[in-house]
Amino acid sequence: MADGVDGTPLYVTGLVRDLSGRPVAAAVLDVWQADADGLYDSQVVGDEVRLRGKYTSRADGTFCVQTIAPLGYSIPMDGPVGELISRTDISHYRPAHVYFLITSPGQHSLTTHLFARGAAYLYSDVLFGTRSELVVDFDRRPPGPTPGGGTSDVPWLSAHYDFVLQPRTDRPQPTDEGR
Ligand SMILES: [Fe+2]
Repeated sequence: MADGVDGTPLYVTGLVRDLSGRPVAAAVLDVWQADADGLYDSQVVGDEVRLRGKYTSRADGTFCVQTIAPLGYSIPMDGPVGELISRTDISHYRPAHVYFLITSPGQHSLTTHLFARGAAYLYSDVLFGTRSELVVDFDRRPPGPTPGGGTSDVPWLSAHYDFVLQPRTDRPQPTDEGR
């Protein structure tokens, strides 16, 4: 998903599993993020789709996403939200993050994002999206073999995370009705 995009290579590896700890094979991981300047593809001139990709978990539930390290960014400040935020002491930045939408038949879909430990604005996220459980180490590795089975000529970053999916049941889900 990072073909031709400048940045420090980042490999995110991990396991998709269910609440019982069983690996979930063939789960689809839809991944997207900003680039090393904190810009999404829609903010870059041109129609090129970049830093978006779909991956599938292997038979043992493992996956390997090959991308680049994102940078945090400011939310748009030229609208009413920006005007509101500018009247407060709240930071208007988001810390660097990578989004994941994970789907699998028989499981509830999961949308979340991972943050790099030590990222700027980590604990002043304007969207209050940071959770300690979603902060992962981006460990710096020397040039050499990478998790994707290839090699990197430059230093690269390694992150690891296990995603847990909740199985769907046929039972009706609780509602607020009647309370
Ligand atoms: Fe974002």
